[in-house]
Amino acid sequence: MGNAKLLPVTADTPEARRVKLAPSILASDFARLGDELRAIESADWAHVDVMDGQFVPNISFGLPILAAARAASPLFMDVHLMIDRPERYLRDFADAGADGLTVHVESTAHVHRAVQQIRELGKKAGVTLNPGTPLEALRPVLADVDLVLIMSVNPGFGGQKFIPNSLERIRTVRRWLDEIGSAAELQVDGGVSATNARAVVAAGASNLVAGSAVFGRDGAQAGLERLREALK
Ligand code: DX5
Ligand code: ZN
Repeated sequence: MGNAKLLPVTADTPEARRVKLAPSILASDFARLGDELRAIESADWAHVDVMDGQFVPNISFGLPILAAARAASPLFMDVHLMIDRPERYLRDFADAGADGLTVHVESTAHVHRAVQQIRELGKKAGVTLNPGTPLEALRPVLADVDLVLIMSVNPGFGGQKFIPNSLERIRTVRRWLDEIGSAAELQVDGGVSATNARAVVAAGASNLVAGSAVFGRDGAQAGLERLREALK
């Protein structure tokens, strides 16, 4: 250790201003998807939540919506696959316009192979896990991924409450990434808002997903500004 570059990002450092914001279009108005994507063009990524009604109890949307979003926006399409055996569809999501693909360790017996496949498709590879899954499940693939996503709600629905012990999980993974010198994004998803964003970044997150906090009552631009303000 002792290398300043490897210290965790905290809200008090200049790095805090470089935290990436990834609004989740799950909370957007699908009938106005093009407008909603324009409203978040000052964000860094668009987070795309795909749910199959098997891995999670809810069904959201799939390939055609991703393709439509891709055609409407230059934002990095960050696709969170909440589907069983995602390896069956990695190529399809890559072809539909994903820039990054994130798979759950619980969704396949072959998470390492899935990560390899994503890389072979030329996309950024992410790995994630549910709040009830021991963090140890990440370690075998930690050095091979471009992104680690800590779920701070049980996946399946937007608008849930942030689970407080997620902060400890973020700290642990931040330490592990720093120990191996990984520059992977540490993304956090679920219940992130202007109230807790600063604490989430102080725990070590570099990338915040937010659905309901962005696409709220007064529009996505205002929602994004509130988040950025909270991180100052
Ligand atoms: C939950 C999804 C999240 C969700 C976040 O299963 O993975 O990305 O859209 O929504 P909020 O920010 O409202 O918790
Ligand atoms: Zn998500």
